[in-house]
Amino acid sequence: MNQYDFKDRVAIITGGGQGIGFTVAQRLLASGAKVSIWDIDQPLLDKLPANLGVGDDRLLALNANISEEDSIGTAVAETIRKFGRIDVLINNAAIVGPNAATWEYPIKAFSDVVQVGLIGTFMVCRAVVPHMIAQNYGRVVNVSSVAGKEGNPKAPAYSSMKAAVLALTKSLGKELADYNIAVNAVTPAVAKTTLALSQDPAFLQMIVSKIPRGRMLELSEAASMICWLASEENSFTTAATFDLSGGRATY
Ligand SMILES: NC(=O)c1ccc[n+]([C@@H]2O[C@H](COP(=O)([O-])OP(=O)(O)OC[C@H]3O[C@@H](n4cnc5c(N)ncnc54)[C@H](O)[C@@H]3O)[C@@H](O)[C@H]2O)c1
Repeated sequence: MNQYDFKDRVAIITGGGQGIGFTVAQRLLASGAKVSIWDIDQPLLDKLPANLGVGDDRLLALNANISEEDSIGTAVAETIRKFGRIDVLINNAAIVGPNAATWEYPIKAFSDVVQVGLIGTFMVCRAVVPHMIAQNYGRVVNVSSVAGKEGNPKAPAYSSMKAAVLALTKSLGKELADYNIAVNAVTPAVAKTTLALSQDPAFLQMIVSKIPRGRMLELSEAASMICWLASEENSFTTAATFDLSGGRATY
């Protein structure tokens, strides 16, 4: 496994209690970073020190809800109080919503998916980016989905939310291009996580069948690309989308 230099770098990972975010946390910690993990699942947060095998000098596990502005403000302040800076932001938390056709999709569920995945991601960027501007350094990685590029049937809320995250990435990346701040997005195909497995088995089978690689994405494969984008070595590329779809997306 390659190692990037994250010594003395401080990373926020939203939704890092499990799944892709947790795997990114493992890899960042193994590369020397200090991590502030935000999640709404307290039992998962309680288990993080043991699961990550790291002391509280390098780990802050915060119960923070990215769909609430006040909760984000508190989590940013606690991160700064403990670690003094924020170098990396992994916008990873999202919810997927039910599987239903657009004309049958519950309006409240659609709104919830957008509130967490899009508005939440926007509000976290809004709260964190000024700290990056002040130090003229930052790396933001937004975890979108191949659903945002291709549009999955029976996932209209999730697909449109993830497409909007790509556009947000492009806007913010261009706004910050004069600074040493990079903002990029990744578009994973399906990987075996709580979020993915909460969907209909027939739907899961359908999206796996669309992957030319013929299998799900491994969490370590997602973390590998995300960590490179979050590293200092990624000094030029910004406002871009990096594909993790195993050949499904053609652009
Ligand atoms: N797993 C996949 O197949 C897949 C594919 C493409 C993209 N993604 C994206 O990857 C990211 C991570 O997904 P995952 O599959 O690892 O999911 P996961 O369910 O394993 O983890 C997501 C975490 O986010 C937390 N969370 C949910 N709402 C939150 C909120 N409002 N505030 C803070 N934390 C919150 C959950 O408690 C959970 O621990 C998501 O953005 C997801 O859309 C996943």
